[in-house]
Amino acid sequence: MGHLILITGSSSGIGLATAVACAAAGHRVVATMRRPDKAGALLAAAAAAGASLEVEQLDVAAASAPDRVREILQKHGPAYALVNNAGIAVGGAFEEQADDDVRAQFETNVFGLMAVTRAVLPAMRGAGRGRIVNVSSVSGLVGLPGVSVYAATKHAVEGFSEALRWEVAPFGVHVCLVEPGTFKTEIFFENQRRGAHISPDGPYAAMTRTLEQLVLQDAAKAPPPAPVAAAILRLIDAPSPPFRTLIGRDARALVALRRVIPDRLFATGIRRLVSVPRSR
Ligand SMILES: NC(=O)c1ccc[n+]([C@@H]2O[C@H](COP(=O)([O-])OP(=O)(O)OC[C@H]3O[C@@H](n4cnc5c(N)ncnc54)[C@H](OP(=O)(O)O)[C@@H]3O)[C@@H](O)[C@H]2O)c1
Repeated sequence: MGHLILITGSSSGIGLATAVACAAAGHRVVATMRRPDKAGALLAAAAAAGASLEVEQLDVAAASAPDRVREILQKHGPAYALVNNAGIAVGGAFEEQADDDVRAQFETNVFGLMAVTRAVLPAMRGAGRGRIVNVSSVSGLVGLPGVSVYAATKHAVEGFSEALRWEVAPFGVHVCLVEPGTFKTEIFFENQRRGAHISPDGPYAAMTRTLEQLVLQDAAKAPPPAPVAAAILRLIDAPSPPFRTLIGRDARALVALRRVIPDRLFATGIRRLVSVPRSR
């Protein structure tokens, strides 16, 4: 019998693919989602893979999330691994983002991740072993226009993970970061969220349209998230997992470019992307 793995945000995309990959590999998977009525796609994919898993309700941004996690663990047993996958992205220029959109991204991507992590840690520490896999993003390493707040949340996840890693290592708990590039998931389509205050004729309109188009074109051509799920499974199974896993050709290219070419040259490329008429 495999390990017990708790996954957040399993109703679609990377979370769904990870839940199925882990269950198919023989692990006991508790796939959590904020709306279990959306479990159909996950259950169908698990059945097609000949795997079984448990579905539990968990909204990571709810004030009750830590209590809910403890309830789930009491029912299913202590988790060997936690995959902090739940996440949202609200597109648009920072100046036009409503405060609620800024806060919602931090509540889900950062504070939710921290709350769930804190709820599983006592049992992992007690057992002297455990894995916490935080799904960050290439946006946690390189900030690009149009997703400034999302990039801030993922940079927060990076810094948090890097420091937490050393705090929990003495107790046998490994913290790992997964940094995907673009993979075709609902975050770009069904779950796509535009800032509530984006103005169609405001100062950022042309930039926002260009960036949105580029992102959507990119997402439509992107591969499905199976490689991210496989990478997360490897991190759970490896005796000594690496701290960082940058995944996707686009992500590797962007990070290499950012590191290797001078800032001035990088900035020239970005400026071309976001140029707006001077009169604005
Ligand atoms: N796809 C990419 O190219 C990419 C690249 C880099 C990083 N990522 C990261 O990968 C993770 C998964 O995203 P995805 O691409 O698979 O997108 P997705 O298909 O939209 O999946 C996001 C999942 O998070 C869930 N979620 C949102 N808010 C939640 C909350 N408060 N509590 C619990 N679950 C919540 C969603 O549930 P609902 O169904 O209820 O909305 C959904 O299951 C995110 O952290 C994202 O930032 C994705």
